[in-house]
Amino acid sequence: MQTKIVKMLYNADGYVSGQEISDTLGVSRQAVNKAVNALREKGFVIDSVTRRGYLLSKLPTELCEEAVSCHLNTRLIGKKIIVLDTVDSTNNYLKKLASNGEESGTVAASTEQTAGKGRLGRVWQTKKGEGLAFSVLLRPRLSPNEIGGITPLAGLAVCRAINDFCGLDSRIKWPNDVIVGSKKLVGILTEMSTDFDTVEHIVIGIGINVSHTSFPEEIAHKATSLLLETGKKPDINRFFATVLNYLEDELLTNNFTLGGQAVGEYQRLCATIGRQVSFTRGRRQISATAVSVSDSGELEVMLENGTVATVNSGEVTVQGIY
Ligand code: BTN
Repeated sequence: MQTKIVKMLYNADGYVSGQEISDTLGVSRQAVNKAVNALREKGFVIDSVTRRGYLLSKLPTELCEEAVSCHLNTRLIGKKIIVLDTVDSTNNYLKKLASNGEESGTVAASTEQTAGKGRLGRVWQTKKGEGLAFSVLLRPRLSPNEIGGITPLAGLAVCRAINDFCGLDSRIKWPNDVIVGSKKLVGILTEMSTDFDTVEHIVIGIGINVSHTSFPEEIAHKATSLLLETGKKPDINRFFATVLNYLEDELLTNNFTLGGQAVGEYQRLCATIGRQVSFTRGRRQISATAVSVSDSGELEVMLENGTVATVNSGEVTVQGIY
C-alpha cells in the first residue's frame, strides 16, 4: 500500500485528498494516515493540510523500495523490491526465496553485503555507503543451453543505463564486466537452478561501485566508482530504477537471447573486441585477437595461425584492461 500511495502522490500535480487515496485503494482513511506516517519515517517529506490532503515534496536519499518504484516503468522486473539494510549476499538471499516459490521479477537489493560473491569463487565487497548490490529473479521458459545470452544482455543493459544516467562512456569487458577506461565499475554473477532440462530459475546478481572514494590497495589500479568518474553521487533510487528499466527492456525485447540487434549493440560497446587476449586451453596459454561475440555470448578470437576459435568459459586476460 505504501508504494501505491507514493506513486499517487508522486504523479499528482498538487495535493491529493485522503478520501481519494482511501477510495482508490479501498482502505480506510486511518490506514492511509498510518501508511503516510510510515513513509515519513523512511524519509519522504509529505505535507498534510486539512481539507486539501497530502503533498509529496521530497523523496528519501537513502535506498528505498517505494522511491525506486516511483521511477520504474517495468512490468516484470521490480514488481516486488526488497531493500535490506544488510545481507550476506543478495544472490543467496534471493535464491532461498526462489526455492520457496518467489515470483519471477522480484528484486533484492542492499548497500551492504557481508559475504558478497564474485565470479570464479572470488569475494565481492559491498561496504555500507559505497556500493549497490542487487539480484533479480527470473523464471524464463528456456532450456539451460538457451540462456547464454542473459548475462551479456544484463551487462549491455547496465552499461547503457550508466551511460544514459551518468553521461559516462562505459564499455563492456567480455563477458559482462562494465568498465570505464581500463577500470572495473560493475560485476555480474548469474546463478541458475535447473530441473532436468528446464531452467527452474535464474538469479542475476549485479554489483555497482557507486560512492567509493578509494579502493583497497590490491584492486586500486583496476577498480573505479561512479563518484570517482563523475565527481558526484547519483540519486541512488532514480539511478537504480534506470538500471532496472534498461534491464527489463534489454531482456524482454530480446526474449532473453543475444540475437539480432542486441549482439550488434553489445559488440559496439565491447572493449574486448579488437584487443589482444590470452587464455588457457588445457595446459597451454594461447594468444589471440578478439574479433566478435556470437549470438550465444561466446567470444570469437583469431589465433596467430589465422583460424577462428570460440572462448566460452574460464578467465580471459585482455591486454590493456586488467
Ligand atoms: C564479479 O565481477 O566477480 C561478479 C560480482 C558480482 C557481485 C554481485 S553484488 C550482488 C550479487 N550478490 C552477490 O553476492 N554477488 C552479486
